[in-house]
Amino acid sequence: MHVRRKLVAGNWKMNGSRAALAELGPIAAAARAAAGVDVAVCPPFTLISLAVARAGGIAIGAQDCHAAASGPHTGNVSAGMLVEAGAKLVIVGHSERRADQCESDAVVRGKAVTALAAGLQTILCVGEVEEERVAGTHCEKVLYQLEHSLPELGGEAELVVAYEPVWAIGTGRTATPDDAIEMHGVIREHLLARFGDTGGRIRILYGGSVNASNAAALFACDNVDGALVGGASLTAEAFVPIVEAAAKS
Ligand code: 13P
Repeated sequence: MHVRRKLVAGNWKMNGSRAALAELGPIAAAARAAAGVDVAVCPPFTLISLAVARAGGIAIGAQDCHAAASGPHTGNVSAGMLVEAGAKLVIVGHSERRADQCESDAVVRGKAVTALAAGLQTILCVGEVEEERVAGTHCEKVLYQLEHSLPELGGEAELVVAYEPVWAIGTGRTATPDDAIEMHGVIREHLLARFGDTGGRIRILYGGSVNASNAAALFACDNVDGALVGGASLTAEAFVPIVEAAAKS
């Protein structure tokens, strides 16, 4: 049995401003009080260095990186650049990027390989769309994504998997505890089959409309090792209760 620390990571998406960095103070205070919980915030690229300067002990991360180290990729940012800016982690394969930027599993895998090699904790996202859940093919879909987007592991940095059902993102609808237990169990089995004992140490986060009211029930589920939080990570008022729920779980 592996004891996995809970990780609560905020994904600010394309939100936030210098003024919003004031939220980091109370978030960091809550993180210090929440023994046994890791807390991270991923603001837009432009705020990373500024956020690092005000992080007060929480990890600051990015929402994407390119698979290449440098080169003619206008508008992209490399893993090395993120490290230089002070980022400790990066999200790859978020469903919004898979949809908006047409990122394939192979592209996501390339990003994860590079990010891990650069020493960034890497949160790799998977999740089904509503039609797949209705059709009952949700587990199959997520297993396919894992099969094709998870990198091999060399132990350079920590890989984290985030299960984010697309129909639950920004909709106010969450997976039920039973949905989460089913899918996180399927993901755990895949990780164990693929990586052996290491697969038991990989944290699996749930993401999709996590908030103060539903966090505790989700954190109580087997194999739910934390949360990737969008909307409710934008203010300390909304985010801190989620961190506190993780500490109590
Ligand atoms: P919401 O918490 O706003 O649903 O977003 C979830 C998400 O996409 C986190 O990456």
